[in-house]
Amino acid sequence: MQRMNYQIIVAAGSGSRYGGNMPKQFCDLNGRPLLMTTIERLHKCDSESEIIVVLSLDMTDEWRQMSDEYSFAIKHTIVVGGATRAASVKNAIDHIERSTCGTPGWISIHDAARPVITPKLFKAIVDGLDGYDGALPACKLSDSIRRIETTGSVAVDRSLYRSVQTPQIFHADILIDAYRQPLRPEFTDDASVMEAAGYTNLCLVDGDPHNIKVTNPGDMAVAELYLSLL
Ligand code: C5P
Repeated sequence: MQRMNYQIIVAAGSGSRYGGNMPKQFCDLNGRPLLMTTIERLHKCDSESEIIVVLSLDMTDEWRQMSDEYSFAIKHTIVVGGATRAASVKNAIDHIERSTCGTPGWISIHDAARPVITPKLFKAIVDGLDGYDGALPACKLSDSIRRIETTGSVAVDRSLYRSVQTPQIFHADILIDAYRQPLRPEFTDDASVMEAAGYTNLCLVDGDPHNIKVTNPGDMAVAELYLSLL
């Protein structure tokens, strides 16, 4: 049977840190909603895989209208999200399990709010899958780090830590199994879901400092700058 790979883009968050009356993934980036750039760039990374975009129920009609307005033509499937990021991913995985038309190969999960994803980083992550349960991009820290304690805070050795980005890519059968466990609030990414299910053989690939997650006001201008440098 033919092998099918999937790219899940999670875009069902409310983006409360960004402010404004619209979640950040729909705010203007280079003259159109940010999410369009993210989908387009992931399609450039791998044009063969099925793209699944997870949206909150109240944004699905609006997104369809935006797609018409901007004549956005990249084929994608819309799945309705859940209350947390992990619940949104789970809904997309349920869709894959229901609709697979070939043996699932790998599943990539990417935050909608990271539009500066490059084919070079994507390929490094796919290559990193070989011999591992999954692969994810991670960056060394440049700031000093302190751990907050009840009595104050304490300096920690930053060389022991990495900040983790997306896309995170996993063998489909393993990821599907990991998402069968009850979801917990501390699952902020998919590697943490995998690890809790016992799939700890994860390959850390060098992340890209330009692969930022648009989170705070001002990040959009930075993302535009980084895109202009590609
Ligand atoms: O909140 P945070 O920035 O960590 O969210 C990461 C990604 O997960 C965002 O792209 C956001 O839209 C998505 N998300 C989601 N469903 C939720 C919460 C977040 O798809 N319920």
